[in-house]
Amino acid sequence: MEITPAKKLRGEVTVPGDKSISHRSVMFGSIAKGTTEITNFLQGADCLATIGCFQNMGIGIEHTPDKIIVHGRGLHGLSKPSGTLNTGNSGTTTRLISGILSGQSFPAILSGDESLNSRPMARIIEPLNTMGAHITSVHGNNCAPLLIEPGALCGCRWESKVASAQVKSAILLAGLYADSETSVTEPVLSRNHTELMLHGFGARVSSKIKADGRAAASILPCEELYGQKIKIPGDISSAAYFIAAGLIIPGSEILVKNVGINPTRAGLLTVCENMGADITYLNKTSSGGEPAADILVKHSPLKAVTIEGSIIPTLIDEIPIIAVMAAFAEGTTVIKDAAELKVKETNRIDTVTENLKAMGADVIPTEDGMIIHGGSMLRGARINSYLDHRIAMAFAVAGLAAEGVTVIEKSQCADISYPAFFETLDSLK
Ligand code: S3P
Repeated sequence: MEITPAKKLRGEVTVPGDKSISHRSVMFGSIAKGTTEITNFLQGADCLATIGCFQNMGIGIEHTPDKIIVHGRGLHGLSKPSGTLNTGNSGTTTRLISGILSGQSFPAILSGDESLNSRPMARIIEPLNTMGAHITSVHGNNCAPLLIEPGALCGCRWESKVASAQVKSAILLAGLYADSETSVTEPVLSRNHTELMLHGFGARVSSKIKADGRAAASILPCEELYGQKIKIPGDISSAAYFIAAGLIIPGSEILVKNVGINPTRAGLLTVCENMGADITYLNKTSSGGEPAADILVKHSPLKAVTIEGSIIPTLIDEIPIIAVMAAFAEGTTVIKDAAELKVKETNRIDTVTENLKAMGADVIPTEDGMIIHGGSMLRGARINSYLDHRIAMAFAVAGLAAEGVTVIEKSQCADISYPAFFETLDSLK
């Protein structure tokens, strides 16, 4: 994909449904009793992988023009899949389904693409096996393919070393099938969509922030979940590219409609405000405990910030585009406490810094983040996405704001979370 500089971007965009919430709606709908109707489901490759896995376990899932309808079969209604469950590029699919499979009565194998099969799985294998599941990494490297053999599950109190909603969710989902209460403590609060949505489906979930700042979520064993109607807000992680483009390209004004602004996801907005962004929130709404708003952004001169500590999990997927904004901001931006970047779809400390350097930015990778000396013009370059959707989209925005032509290699990977991304970006020119 070739990107040429944009004079200004103006107009309205509606981003697709939230990826994290889309996954959960199909998963929880599948193990609930009755029908779950989902509007604004993200038809990206990751969420389609989740649908494929549950269809392979006997769940009827219909696509109508404006809805996905999941015919749930109850907590114990899944059937043994034929062959391996293909989780594609999706960590959320792999880790959350592992929690559900731990409570079933049949064995199954989960496997994905090369990137997925190199991401760490010990973080879910250890707690789920502690609860009584039998999960083995087929190649003995603590990565997928994973063979999941169920067992009688016991409740547990797990202390996770990482703030990860995928780990927390896998454990809470297994907790539905356990004999007593299950709790997960994490160093700081990660996105809470599982807690909110499981509550809506009828599970007894609670959460709190402890006096020492750690976050705890717990769940009681459950007889049955019940099908729901779910309205999915637009994905803030997809909105982030338009917010950033509007801020860094002179003369721009963009209205991004119906964006999920759950505080456990909205760190990007705090960072933008701290950088001096002109952002206005309009039409605030809420559905299923998930707040949303239209976001109006106007081009703004940005200044550098330090991003660290408990805000990191609330913007972890936005760090590639934040790094691009930082390259256009006056001063030195420091991103730290973000070692989790190394185990995303790519090692994003490496892929962000390599590509920013290719565009002439002054950026230094660190063990847990990066340091960006911003404020000088970027120049077009050949960008290697390494098949990471967020790298492809972040550098498309960088290319619009740079001088000269930028080429994004393997840009098609945007399909993972935003199939119409490049057309939508074009429509604002
Ligand atoms: C997700 C959690 C985050 C995030 C990922 C989606 C989720 O991962 O990076 O894109 O839907 O639970 P971790 O749980 O590994 O931090």
